[in-house]
Amino acid sequence: MKTAMTLAMTLSHPMVFAQGAAGVPSTSAGFDIMVSRQMGNCLACHELPGVAGLVSTFGPSLKGVARKWTRAELTQWVKDARHIQPQTLMPPFGTSEGLTKANPPRAILSDAQISQVVDTLQSWQ
Ligand code: HEC
Repeated sequence: MKTAMTLAMTLSHPMVFAQGAAGVPSTSAGFDIMVSRQMGNCLACHELPGVAGLVSTFGPSLKGVARKWTRAELTQWVKDARHIQPQTLMPPFGTSEGLTKANPPRAILSDAQISQVVDTLQSWQ
């Protein structure tokens, strides 16, 4: 069992070991956006392939997600998941439409960044 101190350290410095399927560190721009706390922060809610450490089960694991959705659908999930699942708790990353107190007061990710994220999602067969 973790002590409070160890837990506090783990939470402030989660051990995120990003590795590709063959144990090679992942270097894709999309992956970097997904694990960045300032940008995608997808790890807050999703398990991502190749990431060990704190694994969130708030949302579904994104392992094998490319087999479930087309590129257009994956883009929609990231841009504004409300168009697929109206009651979703996943934040819209590509728009502030319908939000009265968006923080930041703009889309979190640009279309180019979302495209990079989707490139990475599509590689997860
Ligand atoms: C605040 C939590 C949260 C964050 C942050 C978040 N998601 Fe989600 N996401 C969810 C939830 C919850 C679902 C499940 C759908 C639902 O219940 O609405 C989901 C569903 C998805 C799906 C569909 C998965 C499937 O199996 O059908 C994809 C793809 C996805 N998210 C990608 C991302 C990406 C990429 C990021 C980061 C840019 C991200 N999510 C950030 C909560 C989140």
